[in-house]
Amino acid sequence: MIIAIDGPAASGKGTLARRIASHYGLHHLDTGLLYRAVAKAVLDAGYPADNVAHATAAAAAIDPEKFDESALKAEAVTEASSVVAAIPQVRQALLDYQRTFAARAPGAVLDGRDVGTVIAPAADVKLFVTASAQVRAARRVAELQGRGVEADEQDILADLSRRDERDSQREAAPLKPAPDAHLLDTTHLDIDAAFRAAVAIIEAVRTGRKRG
Ligand code: DC
Repeated sequence: MIIAIDGPAASGKGTLARRIASHYGLHHLDTGLLYRAVAKAVLDAGYPADNVAHATAAAAAIDPEKFDESALKAEAVTEASSVVAAIPQVRQALLDYQRTFAARAPGAVLDGRDVGTVIAPAADVKLFVTASAQVRAARRVAELQGRGVEADEQDILADLSRRDERDSQREAAPLKPAPDAHLLDTTHLDIDAAFRAAVAIIEAVRTGRKRG
């Protein structure tokens, strides 16, 4: 079973994806980490994030086994990840790894922006997770504060909006729901309620398949 979970930044899709993967005993890939790793490699080498040649070379060389997740979540990397993600050659270089991961037995949950549209268009279940920008900003602030990082909600809101805009307006695999994605708005749901809603959708799709 392949489950594709897409949505904008801080929509809760990562937490949801991890819980769903553990509930069904599936592998989980946070595809955003791949773009973050490319961004970090380019910045660490002293180049701007929009340097196509260096970003493409970095994408071809990343090793997900060696990812340091907390370093990849740093603010400068976050912003740059959305810039490298708009480069078609970078997306192309990361495609095989994601498709191979999705095909792992007994199945996988992948979360990102283009999983249901580009990476795994034949996924068994596709969720598109959203929440209002205000709620997403508040969640991100709480998450940062939990890690001891000071954060201003208005600054975070501006960052999220800028990133959403770039991720949805780019030409290459923009953030958008697949036509057959199930929308899950978590604005008024906590993580437990969002998880129950997601499982209800997955079960409904599975039951429908068996009947059909
Ligand atoms: O999910 P995230 O915030 O960690 O993702 C970081 C950036 O990577 C995000 O701004 C857009 C990009 N991204 C993408 O373009 N496609 C994906 N499948 C996942 C992330």
